[in-house]
Amino acid sequence: MAIQKVGVVGCGLMGSGIAQVAAQAGFTTVTREVSPEIVEKGLKSIDKNLARLVEKGTISEAQKSEVRGRLKGTTALEDLKDCDVIVEAIIEQLPAKRELFAALDALCPSSTIFASNTSSLTITEIATATKRPQRFVGLHFFNPVPVMKLVEVVRTIATDPAVYEEMVAFGAKLGKTPVRAHDSAGFIVNRLLVPYLLDAIRALEEGVGSIEDIDNSMKLGCGHPMGPLTLLDFVGLDTTYYIANIMFEEFRERRFASPPLLKRMVLAGWTGRKGGRGFYDYSDPQKPRAMKF
Ligand code: 3HC
Repeated sequence: MAIQKVGVVGCGLMGSGIAQVAAQAGFTTVTREVSPEIVEKGLKSIDKNLARLVEKGTISEAQKSEVRGRLKGTTALEDLKDCDVIVEAIIEQLPAKRELFAALDALCPSSTIFASNTSSLTITEIATATKRPQRFVGLHFFNPVPVMKLVEVVRTIATDPAVYEEMVAFGAKLGKTPVRAHDSAGFIVNRLLVPYLLDAIRALEEGVGSIEDIDNSMKLGCGHPMGPLTLLDFVGLDTTYYIANIMFEEFRERRFASPPLLKRMVLAGWTGRKGGRGFYDYSDPQKPRAMKF
């Protein structure tokens, strides 16, 4: 089956990035959100990214118009019914994802392949909301999607091997390096990343170093683009807390257990960069200041 049309449900941070790379890769792309305002916001952020690529000379003004011409925003799920692949990037809640896929299952022909961008929920459990678990995979992208080169392609015990290979090839067509992973909570990246991030918080709790020194250690000592506490703020403390809890639930291992400080920060509404405060204060987004605890 030649994939021509891609649907992306959710046009937030991840969904808009996925829609952008799909349109840039030459696919006719429809992205659906729940309200016209959120559709508009997502498309605006894509426009901004594309304008930046024109500024840098990565693409021409004509190419930008072509990409935008391939991309449509909608609030109607029906507009996705003739898509060959639909990637879901909505809120990380199992009931919401299952409800969405049950609706898509009723709407789309049996040939349509479904994919979830979930970072930690079980693909198998989402797929069983449909009558096509054999045509269901995980496609896990990384933030910021247009920049990060990886996509984890996740198979369940029910995924048809031919569909899986098609999705690995699709990941490569999107300009990403696909890696193959089983449906195990956190897949490959979060299995390794989450304990590292939680350990950075434990190091802070135990007074091993200050926020800046922990971050500088991993940036300058190990060549990471961001220190772990900056990365936590970037990913979102609520998101990390949520993922850690799912992984702890699955494996019952201390390395996935949320440190008390993370829980307290989430309870206090400190979500990181998006909420203006986390391990750093983003009152001036250009100059984040380390918080004092
Ligand atoms: N959208 C599009 N492009 C962006 C962008 C965005 N949101 N943010 C940055 N960029 C581009 C910039 O335009 C710039 O492009 P250029 O080099 O061609 O000019 C390039 O990225 C570098 O940006 P900056 O110079 O502004 O800043 P940095 O050099 O600090 O890079 C970064 C920013 C790419 C975010 C880098 O700090 C980084 O790689 N950080 C680590 C990110 C990471 O680990 N992401 C994975 C998180 S885990 C996850 O998503 C999984 C989930 O399940 C938790």
